[in-house]
Amino acid sequence: MSDLARDAQQYDADDPLAGRRALFVLDDGVYLDGNSLGALARSVPGRVEDVVRRQWGALKIRSWDESGWWTAPERIGDRIAPLVGAAAGQIVVGDSTSVNVFKALVGAVRLADDDRDEILVDATTFPTDGYIAGSAARLTGRTLRPVRPDEVPAALSGRTAAVLLNHVDYRTGRLYDLPSLTAAVHAAGAIAVWDLCHSAGALPVGLDEHGVDLAVGCTYKYLNGGPGSPAYLYVRGELQDRFDSPLPGWNSHAEPFGMREAYEPAAGALRGRVGTPDILSMLALEAALEVWDGVSVDEVRTKSLALTDFFLECVREYVPEGRVESLTPVRHEERGSQVALRCAPDAGDVMKRLIARGVVGDFRRPDVLRFGFTPLYVGFADVERAARVLAEELR
Ligand SMILES: Cc1ncc(COP(=O)(O)O)c(C=O)c1O
Repeated sequence: MSDLARDAQQYDADDPLAGRRALFVLDDGVYLDGNSLGALARSVPGRVEDVVRRQWGALKIRSWDESGWWTAPERIGDRIAPLVGAAAGQIVVGDSTSVNVFKALVGAVRLADDDRDEILVDATTFPTDGYIAGSAARLTGRTLRPVRPDEVPAALSGRTAAVLLNHVDYRTGRLYDLPSLTAAVHAAGAIAVWDLCHSAGALPVGLDEHGVDLAVGCTYKYLNGGPGSPAYLYVRGELQDRFDSPLPGWNSHAEPFGMREAYEPAAGALRGRVGTPDILSMLALEAALEVWDGVSVDEVRTKSLALTDFFLECVREYVPEGRVESLTPVRHEERGSQVALRCAPDAGDVMKRLIARGVVGDFRRPDVLRFGFTPLYVGFADVERAARVLAEELR
């Protein structure tokens, strides 16, 4: 056994989160793609069965009240809130991330002063945010200006209405400084919108503490909600009365069953709702969130950094020099919960071979191997094995 394999055993033995792994359905491979689709929590299949057979099958329409379907978007939003540093009453769950980016960004422009004619968007963003920001700009008559996140402070001006940023870059795993960027946006008098897809459930976000205005995120990555599980929208409490959703549906009406002709927005976070929620996915997510009971995001962050540090160490030790290059920052303050390795020219083939050997990460064009580290179910022996198999395939 190598020294690193021995270290891994010791780290696993000392890991306070090691017991959480039993809450998930895992095989004997190494799953390092939880930053794309989180693993299945054991609590989910039984809950979905109950929702389908009893709540829907037996109770039918009564379940909107009796099974708490109607209030699920706010209830599950409150369940996610502590994971992103938000007090209750500011998050609703529903729709996709893309749709929530639209609500948040158009809502942000409507919150800003009328004479501000520019929207800044992360030039390296996940594509959907960029596409939607382009449409939001056209719809609101603003100009869209793509800038790199570290260039945002210099790009801000009295013209800036809103800024849409990704907390963690989906390709490189780089973590951006949410507190200081949000402060810079506010100092310029603009509205800060954050996409938390790659940070929520992996590291502390501190939405309330840092005064973030609006935020969105998916629930199928580190929150393990399942394929296509609904996303969420955060609207800071003090902005809720002025938040003017571009998608005002009957579910966000002050009196949804009043069937009134005129729209009157509900108070609070549920102003971010649109139409009938996707109950099956949403209640699967609610069951999946039980794995967080008694877990602090700080301890998750500590383990996440230890996992990515250890993976980088194993890669340095095992993989032939020069065969891969890490795109993920070395500094902890700049690292999310994934490691991206440039592996030219054969990253796609290499990842196929890793997957065939039970080490599942993913490939991002043109030459990136991505490995996501989900502290609730990835252990240090997994990390050592993944790096060892990678090295064997690269030799
Ligand atoms: C940063 C980011 N934003 C948005 C999305 C996807 O949005 P949607 O949930 O609408 O597919 C992803 C998906 O991976 C993402 O990484």
